[in-house]
Amino acid sequence: MLQASGLAVNGRRVAIVAGIRTPFARAGTVLRSLSAIELGRLCVAELVQRSGLDRNDVDLLVFGTVVPSVQAPNIAREVSLIPHLAKGVQAFTVSRACASANQAITDAADQILLGHADCAIAGGAESLSNVPILHSRGFADALVAASRAKSLGARVQALAKLRPRDLVPITPAIAEPTTGETMGESAEKMAKLNHVPREEQDQFALRSHRLAHAGTHDGRLTAEIMPVWPPPRFEPVSADNGIREDSTIEKLRELRPVFDRRYGTVTAGNSSPLTDGAAAVILMSEEKARALGIEPLAYIRSYAYAALDPAEQLLMAPVLAAPVALARAGLSLGDIDLVEMHEAFASQVLSNLRGLDSDAWAARAGVRQPVGEVDRARLNVMGGSIAIGHPFGATGARITTTLCNELARRGGQFGLMTVCAAGGMGFAMVVER
Ligand SMILES: CC(C)(COP(=O)(O)OP(=O)(O)OC[C@H]1O[C@@H](n2cnc3c(N)ncnc32)[C@H](O)[C@@H]1OP(=O)(O)O)[C@@H](O)C(=O)NCCC(=O)NCCS
Repeated sequence: MLQASGLAVNGRRVAIVAGIRTPFARAGTVLRSLSAIELGRLCVAELVQRSGLDRNDVDLLVFGTVVPSVQAPNIAREVSLIPHLAKGVQAFTVSRACASANQAITDAADQILLGHADCAIAGGAESLSNVPILHSRGFADALVAASRAKSLGARVQALAKLRPRDLVPITPAIAEPTTGETMGESAEKMAKLNHVPREEQDQFALRSHRLAHAGTHDGRLTAEIMPVWPPPRFEPVSADNGIREDSTIEKLRELRPVFDRRYGTVTAGNSSPLTDGAAAVILMSEEKARALGIEPLAYIRSYAYAALDPAEQLLMAPVLAAPVALARAGLSLGDIDLVEMHEAFASQVLSNLRGLDSDAWAARAGVRQPVGEVDRARLNVMGGSIAIGHPFGATGARITTTLCNELARRGGQFGLMTVCAAGGMGFAMVVER
């Protein structure tokens, strides 16, 4: 067993104590009546209740979201204002695209390391059923002019300038602001550049569904999910609804490519779906956990972020972050018992796996040796975002909880997680037990 020499400041280490999430539901389905704030509140309330924490034990709440509410942009503060937490709890919101919950977790961990907090809740939420629909510039200008008009006539005159095209609403696109490329187009590009054939992507997607179904069926994933009773019918939702136990390779092969209809390989079947959900973890200083008599699930050993040009290979930066996180942990891939890799697209996971085993990417990451070939038997052992779903702001906390729980179940010592994110960003973290 390797010695603990993880992330520590003045002898303080950060323990991951517990984690929970709502069911993850395909956008527009069973959780559509709940906003991200409501999903986050339900999740955090359940987490505090299940852990038995006193409301005064929690010092800090950090939450991530990618598509924030225009009316309440600091989701963390709104989530923190539940009866289960003291009103004096500090709360701030972070955004790092699909790694937002990871950013929340590492920011909270840093606060604990600094001694500014002893106990924090960190996670994220997303409701892709409730994305803000925007007005066009012309419509907005006319409304502002009308609201400033001094007379009824002037108001009518301002509104009379509107043309039918001004009334067309604008929905947020999952596209890079700098390049205009959508995530799916980036996934297509990565499949081509890294030579990832359609069949390999479909087989990986099938694996994701099979393993997620097995984890749900035997209760390992179910144990991480709290039931939710969404209005207006208040019927319980207690399982992810994107996992397809009936998916077959034949069905996956039949699906038409979505983002490059002619020559593409990325389909609805080998992409993560648009999803609603929330997830959160409790972090504590080692001393606080000991004082409360809590046995931590794991400790944070190291983490790293990386970024590359979004115009290059948008979802490849985990390949740059993972070697740095491993080096900071003083470990190599051979020491790692389990790997959790966020699955935005099968083509991205398979590209990332190729990159981790490549000399060229190792050189770019500034390390001498590539990380190596990830043993598939240790990778996403209960499936991943392709099957389970991907509420952008929440996924990082889901992966953290799953990695820690499964590591404990298997009696493993070290776990590695990676998350790719829009903007060409990537995240990696090593946890230890
Ligand atoms: C890919 C995407 C456009 C597909 O959206 P969609 O068309 O609404 O997807 P659907 O769930 O309706 O699936 C389309 C079809 O594929 C089928 N399908 C999807 N997954 C399947 C599977 N695993 N097995 C068999 N069939 C499957 C569906 O049954 C459906 O068939 P139907 O049209 O006969 O009903 C959407 O999920 C998306 O944008 N994903 C990417 C999200 C993203 O960019 N995330 C950022 C990552 S960081």
